[in-house]
Amino acid sequence: MADEDALSFEKDIRPMFTDLDVAHMKPAGIDLSSAGDVKANADAIYSTVRSGAMPPPSSGEARWSDAMCERFKRWLDQGSP
Ligand code: HEM
Repeated sequence: MADEDALSFEKDIRPMFTDLDVAHMKPAGIDLSSAGDVKANADAIYSTVRSGAMPPPSSGEARWSDAMCERFKRWLDQGSP
């Protein structure tokens, strides 16, 4: 995938959230499978994945790579289409 191209939530962003992420974050009030919820919480989501605070290391999941963080940021810069 060429990240320089226009990104979309369903194609480029949604797949970066695992089923575990979605299941654990719903009770915390954020539906990571919903474009609207992710858009509404985008700045907070970006800072937690960038810092490695989310997903929590205790979950056993790997922290987001720089490439994943950059793709999310590019999606934000494109207006979260
Ligand atoms: C607005 C941003 C976010 C906030 C405020 C937030 C907050 C929280 C809180 C309060 C918990 C429960 C306590 C804990 O286990 O530490 C939690 C758990 C979790 N979050 Fe987030 N979260 C955010 C974004 C994310 C994102 C973007 C991901 C995935 C990429 C994620 C993945 C998880 C997972 C997997 C757990 C379960 C951890 C476990 O039970 O071991 N969260 N989050």
